[in-house]
Amino acid sequence: MSPSTWLTVIGIGEGGLPDMTPAARACLRQATLVIGGERHLALAAEDIAGVEHRTWTNLEDTVAAVLARRGQPTVVLASGDPMHYGFAATLSHKLAPGDMTVLPHLSAFCLAAARLCWPVQDIACLSAHGRPIEALAPHVHDGARLLILSADGRTPAAVAALLERLDFAPSTLTVLEHLGGPQEKTFVWSPGTPCADLNTLAVECRAAPGALGLSRVPGLPDGAFTHDGQLTKREARAVTLSLLAPRPGELLWDVGAGSGSIAIEWLRAVPHTRVVAFERDPTRLATVQANALTLGVPSLIAVGGEAPAVLADFAEDPPHAVFVGGGLSRLGETLLDAAWGYLRPGGRLVANAVTKDSQAALTAFHARRGGTMTRLQVSRLLPSGGWDDRSPLLHYLGSKP
Ligand SMILES: C[S@@+](CC[C@H](N)C(=O)[O-])C[C@H]1O[C@@H](n2cnc3c(N)ncnc32)[C@H](O)[C@@H]1O
Repeated sequence: MSPSTWLTVIGIGEGGLPDMTPAARACLRQATLVIGGERHLALAAEDIAGVEHRTWTNLEDTVAAVLARRGQPTVVLASGDPMHYGFAATLSHKLAPGDMTVLPHLSAFCLAAARLCWPVQDIACLSAHGRPIEALAPHVHDGARLLILSADGRTPAAVAALLERLDFAPSTLTVLEHLGGPQEKTFVWSPGTPCADLNTLAVECRAAPGALGLSRVPGLPDGAFTHDGQLTKREARAVTLSLLAPRPGELLWDVGAGSGSIAIEWLRAVPHTRVVAFERDPTRLATVQANALTLGVPSLIAVGGEAPAVLADFAEDPPHAVFVGGGLSRLGETLLDAAWGYLRPGGRLVANAVTKDSQAALTAFHARRGGTMTRLQVSRLLPSGGWDDRSPLLHYLGSKP
């Protein structure tokens, strides 16, 4: 098959050219320019001897270099399956469907699952390349199996340290080096073991006795967050998240984020969601960032500043949902109207109110815009046997036409 697109991305494994399909090899030999990592070009040396080739620099520069060649025949050599956390996956967001042909090889996930006899559909396939290790945390549950593409030889130790912080030290870490090649080696990791830079890590998660083992269902215990009292409490948080109703691909603005609990639970509950959290108090802003890291959602964007003014800087990417968690008593309907204005059509506005002023603002806003109001009365049983009766909380939900 001769690709009809200007760009072809070919996957290559540690087994090199003998493991490639005849179609992929033919494409490589007919190329006018091949771009690849040093390792990929060395593995393909025999077929590209007479072809112009360029060594891959870093991801960003290589993407730019490839995009600059739009329309001219170009081949990129990448590891394994380039559509699974690979170069072609990154490029796919920047190209039209008719621009690129991908000729995949077996992915490291596929090879690792085969070596371990782990059914792929039961495993979380993750990457530690170019992203904080903390992002693995929401996948760590007792009995869970994870396959992680390591960034380099230090990744297994970094993952072990994360597991220890999460009270999952009894987990087993298996390192699979150079999968599919002559140097392939598999061993159980222990502290101090040197690991090759090219490795995939398999983790069988085991909780230590008493580990918290946080669920992804909203309504985590209040103690899961560092906070100074400015926290939407567990029961109200669970109701708030159910009203916000996150779906994959959606963006939330958490206005007056406090400790970040609403933003963090939005991100933990549904993969492929985004958050911008606005908080005017610098100390709390730092707490939002720290909580996001500890609870495994480092993608949270925390912004310092006073709403509604600070919101304008983000108007180009309108949110699917806005939660107003602070500022309502002081700013009332001004803040609600601003949030409503930035929402995309069909978006949801959720706001909670405890004080008399904020409840009045919500009631007036509801009268103008419609929506639903719910009053929640929560009481927790105290060790003394009495109930800690709290002030009722108003929840507003409005859907923008
Ligand atoms: C009740 S707390 C929010 C609690 C938060 N939902 C949580 O669970 O951690 C309200 C927060 O809004 C912040 N705030 C109030 N007015 C604001 C405004 N106009 N712009 C940005 N932040 C504001 C306050 O500093 C405070 O941290």
